[in-house]
Amino acid sequence: MEHSALLLFHFLFLFFSLIAGESDDVRKSLIRFLEKLSPNDPQLAQRLGWNASTDPCNGTAVGWSNLTCIDKKMAVQTISLEGMGLNGTIDAGELCRAPSLAVVRLQDNFIRGILPAEISNCANLMHLYLRNNQLVGSLPSSLADLGNLKLLDLSNNNFSGELPAALSRISGLSGFLVQNNNLNGSIPGFWFRNFGAGYFNVSYNQFSGPIPEGAEDIGSASFSGNQGLCGRPLPNACSPPSPSSSPSPSPSPDQGKKDHWGTREKLILFSGYIALGLFLLAYAAYRVLRKKAAKRNKKIAASESSSPKSSFTMNKTVATGSEHPISTESAATEGSTLVVLKKSTTTAAELKFEELLKAPAELLGRGRFGSVYKVVMADGAALAVKRLKDSGGSGAEFRRRMVRVDMAARHPNVLPAVAFYCSSQGKLVVYEFQQNGSLLNLLRGSNRAGGGAFDWSWRLRVAAGIAEGLAFMHKELDSEGLIGHGNLKSSNILMNAGMDPCISEYGLVVANAGDGADKPDVYGFGIILLELLTGKPVQNDPQELAKWVNSVVREEWTVEVFDKSIVSGAGASEERMVQMLQVGLRCVNPSAKARPSMDQVASMINAVREEDERSLLVSESE
Ligand SMILES: *[C@@H]1O[C@H](CO)[C@@H](O)[C@H](O)[C@H]1NC(C)=O
Ligand SMILES: *[C@@H]1O[C@H](CO)[C@@H](O)[C@H](O)[C@H]1NC(C)=O
Ligand SMILES: *[C@@H]1O[C@H](CO)[C@@H](O)[C@H](O)[C@H]1NC(C)=O
Ligand SMILES: *[C@@H]1O[C@H](CO)[C@@H](O)[C@H](O)[C@H]1NC(C)=O
Ligand SMILES: *[C@@H]1O[C@H](CO)[C@@H](O)[C@H](O)[C@H]1NC(C)=O
Ligand SMILES: *[C@@H]1O[C@H](CO)[C@@H](O)[C@H](O)[C@H]1NC(C)=O
Ligand SMILES: *[C@@H]1O[C@H](CO)[C@@H](O)[C@H](O)[C@H]1NC(C)=O
Repeated sequence: MEHSALLLFHFLFLFFSLIAGESDDVRKSLIRFLEKLSPNDPQLAQRLGWNASTDPCNGTAVGWSNLTCIDKKMAVQTISLEGMGLNGTIDAGELCRAPSLAVVRLQDNFIRGILPAEISNCANLMHLYLRNNQLVGSLPSSLADLGNLKLLDLSNNNFSGELPAALSRISGLSGFLVQNNNLNGSIPGFWFRNFGAGYFNVSYNQFSGPIPEGAEDIGSASFSGNQGLCGRPLPNACSPPSPSSSPSPSPSPDQGKKDHWGTREKLILFSGYIALGLFLLAYAAYRVLRKKAAKRNKKIAASESSSPKSSFTMNKTVATGSEHPISTESAATEGSTLVVLKKSTTTAAELKFEELLKAPAELLGRGRFGSVYKVVMADGAALAVKRLKDSGGSGAEFRRRMVRVDMAARHPNVLPAVAFYCSSQGKLVVYEFQQNGSLLNLLRGSNRAGGGAFDWSWRLRVAAGIAEGLAFMHKELDSEGLIGHGNLKSSNILMNAGMDPCISEYGLVVANAGDGADKPDVYGFGIILLELLTGKPVQNDPQELAKWVNSVVREEWTVEVFDKSIVSGAGASEERMVQMLQVGLRCVNPSAKARPSMDQVASMINAVREEDERSLLVSESE
């Protein structure tokens, strides 16, 4: 029953995704956007093949170059018009009619005029590149509404006026480049720890006032060329002392005298830190004592109700045997350490750390690297929270990795993190909860139900989706030492509402970087592929499955390997099943060097899939 409903849903979804694509309105808007951008080149739209009578996302139709779509079939994701001599203006109203637009590259042109407020209609915008143009005017305050913005590059223009303060509150923002403009006013308190090296730069503007705290680790070259700026990391201190500096227990009357400058200033700053540290410690201790008292009552209440659901914090207490491991520390740094990367689509409210701790939580599973909880927020939104075991990785390294992974463009088969939390007490990563569970559970369930529900073409589609998602991420994250998934297995493949696979927990586990860093992922994928083909989910050791498949194939009983329900089901061809099995076996080759890259795997699987679709059409027309 349940399975046939799922199957129906999957067919409906397939049907709609086939006829989907950008609407006529969106196509015309994009063409008008391009025409306003290139008054000097009226033939540009035609040359690039931007023609309203074709779908930008239909890969088989010619045209619509300098633009990419999500999953080839669905919606425009990236527009790349850099360095094309454009000298018109930006019509953001037209541009943002494309609802899925995530990346806009317009750098290195001669674009004039302002950045219009309608840019905020591009609700999914992640990267906006406008550097090296001739843009003027102040930045629209609506920029701060772009909750998914990661990278804003406005450098080398002639923007003026003050920065919208709320811009700094986009908590996933990890690239902010506005050097060489005419911006003025003060610099708001950005979440400086999120910015990778070279990704924060406000130099050569007219900024003034003290640099907010937290910017110490960003080099002074990112602030230079602003007459009125003062404070660390710039060498000139603010005078009189900035109101944001730490309280000093020993105010020195001759503070600031040139002869003692270096050591004395350091000493004062240091004692300030110690005082602040002692204060926070005392405050934390006070909160712990208060919470302990409160918890004694709460614990009694929980044991009385004997409900399997309990507060997230209490669950963690049970899991580790220690007392309130995270809320203790949060007393000192309340709210400030939860980094929200993405606006949740299920709730309008901003995610707060305290609310996360208060919400009821249910343990979903425990693994080698940590536990996963389902947490239901006050407004009913369901989240999945992964609590990582301390795997030795430093907090700073974890933070950099999370931000870097989040900076990658989105792929429909990869589940993005909503938020993460990191302190010396623990690491949490928050995702949107996926109702349909994991691939592992589906495979186990279909065994119990006698199989049949998950047919060959569905399995092929799942394999292709995972392979494409992984290949995409490997390519996106290959710049400074590849960041792989690190822990790929069928329990980390979640099924979304359309029963398409979503790779979860990307980058949570440190995999060794550099040459061959992708190979553990290729192995993990190979095991998933074998699970899909054999219908035998891994129990404990994935190597056993690989060994078993190899031994059966060696004995030339190949067809015995496959899940009976796909062999007897409709549409399966033994030839293509064997082709897929060979791909799987290459991926699990004991020698990492002999394994193909994910890119190669994805194209091998897509070739099998295309052949499969062609044969389906032939058999239908007969
Ligand atoms: C844009 O470029 C064209 C030709 O290259 C030129 O004729 C026109 O004056 C330029 N427009 C502006 C506003 O610079
Ligand atoms: C768009 O394409 C159609 C057919 O492919 C063609 O007839 C038409 O001239 C094109 N329009 C433009 C503006 O190029
Ligand atoms: C894609 O374009 C091809 C060739 O123009 C056409 O035959 C096909 O119907 C189009 N597909 C969709 C889904 O629009
Ligand atoms: C845009 O398209 C043109 C023509 O197809 C191509 O030469 C150019 O490299 C493309 N530019 C970008 C940035 O993709
Ligand atoms: C930049 O804008 C200022 C006014 O805000 C103007 O005085 C200056 O000439 C402009 N510079 C350039 C290079 O256009
Ligand atoms: C910033 O510059 C604008 C003019 O571009 C001016 O009106 C405003 O007062 C300046 N603000 C500060 C804080 O200097
Ligand atoms: C910031 O921009 C300035 C001016 O372009 C450049 O000199 C400096 O190196 C940049 N800072 C960093 C950290 O990249």
